[in-house]
This record gives sequence, C-alpha cells and structure tokens, in this order.
Amino acid sequence: MSNLTIVWVNKLKKCKIYKKTCIYFCINGTMNMVNDMQYKITTYSEDETMELAQNIESEKFPNMVICLEGDLGSGKTVFAKAFALALGITDNITSPTFNIIKEYDNAEMKLFHMDVYRLSDIKQDLGIPEYFNKRGVCIIEWADLIEDILPKNRLDIKIKILGEESRQFIITPHGSKYEDLCERVL
Ligand SMILES: Nc1ncnc2c1ncn2[C@@H]1O[C@H](COP(=O)(O)OP(=O)(O)OP(=O)(O)O)[C@@H](O)[C@H]1O
Ligand SMILES: [Mg+2]
Repeated sequence: MSNLTIVWVNKLKKCKIYKKTCIYFCINGTMNMVNDMQYKITTYSEDETMELAQNIESEKFPNMVICLEGDLGSGKTVFAKAFALALGITDNITSPTFNIIKEYDNAEMKLFHMDVYRLSDIKQDLGIPEYFNKRGVCIIEWADLIEDILPKNRLDIKIKILGEESRQFIITPHGSKYEDLCERVL
C-alpha cells in the first residue's frame, strides 16, 4: 500500500460516522486545507452539513466554543441541531432567536445554544461570557456580532451560501485544542 493510500485509510478510520462523505470530499477535492489554520469544506445538502457537525461533536470537550457566522438561512441552526443530536439531546432544538440563550443539560455534556442576532434589542446583561466556563459546549449563531466578548480560543465557522443546497464552510481554529480537533476530524 502506498503512503498516500495509508493516509486516506487513516483519515477514513477517524471519520466515525460518514465514511462515504469523506471519500466524496476527498475525490472531488471539496475539502482542502487552505493553510495550517483554515479549512474549507463544501456541503451539497443539509445531511452533509449534519455529518460535518456530528464529526466535530465527536471531538467535543468542556468549555468548547463554536462561533457560527453566515447569512439568514445559511445553515447555522442546522449545524447546531445536528451537533445537539450527536450529543444525545432529545429535545426539539429550535433557534433561540427570541430568548437568545437555550440551555440543554440532559445529555453527555451541557449545550448552550445562543442566537445573538437580536441581542442589541435586549436591554439586560445576559452574562454571555460566563457560559464559556460552565464546562459545556457553547454554539453561538451570529457570533460575529459579539466578537469583542468572544474567548480567544474558539472554533470559528463561517458559512457561505453557494447555491440552493450548497454551502461553503470556512473553519478557523483558534488555539491548540481547536487546531488538534480540526486535524483529527477534518
Ligand atoms: N448544504 C446545506 N446545509 C445546511 N442547510 C441547507 C443546505 N442546503 C439547504 N439547506 C437549507 O437551508 C436552511 C438553513 O436554515 P437554518 O435555519 O439552519 O439557517 P440559519 O443560518 O440558522 O438562519 P438564521 O440566521 O435565520 O437563524 C434549511 O432550510 C436547510 O434545509
Ligand atoms: Mg438560525
């Protein structure tokens, strides 16, 4: 077996759930590391976006922060729902647009799902930074709107709408834990 084949086989082994998608990404070159710190992945359906979220979930750790950025309907909530499902959350996950933060604690790890789109309409201080240290996972939709209070170490995911069912995910890890995670699952 050539070295290249061994690399592919190892990659596939690490891909817990969706081996087929990995082959697809690899063969079509839709997944490529732009530089050491940024990954670009294109998904062609909601299911493929869910696969991506589930792969990232498989490397979760306490106090993990995932920052989602992207236009209306780009797939931020789809990503969050799939992550929650993989975490074992059985509640119906809906976008917390009006209450900003939703907390789920009936699974392996707590999940704090935030949608800060309307944060400027809310008068009280919601203490968002405190959630980064509650030993759960924080997923923040529209995180770019609160960039000044985001932790330095985090996973940034920018979603671009390419077409009706295609989305480009630009994933940037900040900090060694997130860099290691990306190396393992992307
Ligand atoms: N490749 C894809 N990945 C994710 N969603 C997709 C994809 N293709 C089509 N879709 C559709 O795009 C929509 C994404 O909706 P979603 O609620 O996740 O967007 P959002 O980014 O959370 O928007 P908002 O900012 O309004 O909260 C869904 O209807 C989903 O079915
Ligand atoms: Mg949403």
